[in-house]
Amino acid sequence: MELYTPETLISEEEIIQRIDALGKAITQNFEGQDLIVICVLKGAFMFCSDLIKRINLPLKLEFISLSSYGDSTQSSGSVRLEMDITANIEGKNVLIVEDIVDSGLTIKILMEIMSVRKPKEVRLASLLFKPSKLKHPVRIDYLGFEIEDKFVIGYGLDYAGRYRELPYIGVLNAGN
Ligand code: IMP
Repeated sequence: MELYTPETLISEEEIIQRIDALGKAITQNFEGQDLIVICVLKGAFMFCSDLIKRINLPLKLEFISLSSYGDSTQSSGSVRLEMDITANIEGKNVLIVEDIVDSGLTIKILMEIMSVRKPKEVRLASLLFKPSKLKHPVRIDYLGFEIEDKFVIGYGLDYAGRYRELPYIGVLNAGN
């Protein structure tokens, strides 16, 4: 396996600065209430970890895993629930933490799965959003960055399982 350094799109400093602001907004919006944070694996693990450190509320952390991409840079068009949360979210405030909204299909399906469980409220935090690819309208309550239609990696996001460990968001160049 060769070591390849992708071009930086969003630096570690920019990411942390933005997450600071998102953490403050979430803390304010849910003031005086409890929160269940659902981290969408695997891509959101780093974002979620940095985000919850900046949310000053009593919270519980849950994990869910959905798959749509396989090893490709294109969505397969179908979403599979691979691992579910363990908490009962009925009557609870829920914050879903996602890495990127691309076509919007994953979040649409996830919102459907959650809404039948009757939470009090479900909000979405997404680090990234590619508006040009959106097919299923979704409301992103807490957005990190809007980006162009480029396949990005790093800070939790992968290509074929690689590059998740990069501390910044990079662009995958053709041939790498
Ligand atoms: P959607 O269902 O098309 O919105 O895709 C959402 C999922 O696709 C994300 O949670 C990511 O795992 C993956 N994805 C979409 N775009 C990218 C990208 O540019 N880099 C890495 N993963 C991506």
